[in-house]
Amino acid sequence: MNCRYCTIIHEHDPRYIVRRAHWDAKSDFPRCAWHWQFVCGHCGRNISFNGMAWCAKTKEFFCIHCAPRHKKVKRSFWQWRYYYALWCTTCKRYHPVLDWLEYTGKHPWQLNATARRALNGLNRNKKLKPFVYLRWAPQKFQQPSLQEVQKRWDRGAKIWDARYDKYGDAYRHVIFNPALFPIIGNVRRKLVLDAGCGTGYMSRLLVEKGAKVTGVDLSKKFIEIAKQYEKKKSSGIKYLRADLARLSQLSKSYFDMVVSVYVMCDVRDYDKAIKEIARVLKPKGRFIFLIEHPCFNWNTGGWERVPVDSERTEDCLYLKVDNYFRRGTQESQWGKLPKLLTFYRPLSDYFHSLKKHGFVVKDLVEPRPTRKALHTRPREWDSEDRVPPVVIIEAIKQQN
Ligand SMILES: C[S@@+](CC[C@H](N)C(=O)[O-])C[C@H]1O[C@@H](n2cnc3c(N)ncnc32)[C@H](O)[C@@H]1O
Ligand SMILES: [Zn+2]
Ligand SMILES: [Zn+2]
Ligand SMILES: [Zn+2]
Repeated sequence: MNCRYCTIIHEHDPRYIVRRAHWDAKSDFPRCAWHWQFVCGHCGRNISFNGMAWCAKTKEFFCIHCAPRHKKVKRSFWQWRYYYALWCTTCKRYHPVLDWLEYTGKHPWQLNATARRALNGLNRNKKLKPFVYLRWAPQKFQQPSLQEVQKRWDRGAKIWDARYDKYGDAYRHVIFNPALFPIIGNVRRKLVLDAGCGTGYMSRLLVEKGAKVTGVDLSKKFIEIAKQYEKKKSSGIKYLRADLARLSQLSKSYFDMVVSVYVMCDVRDYDKAIKEIARVLKPKGRFIFLIEHPCFNWNTGGWERVPVDSERTEDCLYLKVDNYFRRGTQESQWGKLPKLLTFYRPLSDYFHSLKKHGFVVKDLVEPRPTRKALHTRPREWDSEDRVPPVVIIEAIKQQN
């Protein structure tokens, strides 16, 4: 079996000698060692050679996900039209990745025969590990109890919070916040409910803008962490542990606005929750919520990428979408978080429920990554600029 990358290169340069494939040899994309994965010296993950740079100073490989920024450098070489250069925090400059280094004769294995013989830095697993981010939950969790849902959020609370700074995680910085705040607008002296507040990043940002905020979340652990922030720096936020479908502790027609960031798709009884949100809102009050985009759900496996571990944008072929009308419980796994239970339903379910409970939809926004993010980390954000990961809906409660 020949290495498929070597074969591609050979087609462009007949002098290039095709190597045998000993890695993922039985797949439809078999690889030689040079075109396999390397172990990142920073995060320890196995990353394709086309997303891995080498720092001659630290003598370490480091990956495109660990570099604080990277760029596509336009150059035609073999079949490719660019190479990635990754920012090195030690050298304070960009280092090219291994495909370009090999082309220019500066691959660490070309510079050091001992390193080459020892296959320095190579991932020793010979097969690709399948990566599943989202799948239908097993039958026994299709109708989960609220305790089961809560238990999983509770377990993940600390890891969740560790990923956040004041403005949230990378998705919130790059896609959610820049789209949400213009819709939210002026909240000075407004009474705002943060529905599914998590550890309270949005609650605190709203307070900074002059709102009086109540945060509600199902998870005891999330609320505990939110309260710890409040203890450290009091800002008058009231936190409440409750199911959004049962808000009996909150009075009728109280809030001017309800903001909910990536929650309604995680709420089991979404119709009851929307009914409760309508009840606690004043007439003409606004309900602004962001959910995973139901039209592009990943339940069929996300992007078709060939080979599946390639870091190159053009190897991300298309997003696989299917079973749009199949409502059900899904298990999603983000990094080190436990498997969380989320609830998939088509977009029209949300609209019907809003209509049923007296809302009129004013706007629907499909946010895109900021220009800055697309510029500084194209590998991460290009695909989110091809298919929108989330949708924001702004609905107005009509007179009772
Ligand atoms: C994806 S997190 C988002 C948290 C927060 N809004 C943020 O953006 O950081 C979803 C949150 O919804 C909460 N949640 C799930 N089901 C809920 C329910 N029925 N009632 C209230 N909160 C719920 C979870 O505990 C979790 O904190
Ligand atoms: Zn090869
Ligand atoms: Zn890394
Ligand atoms: Zn360096």
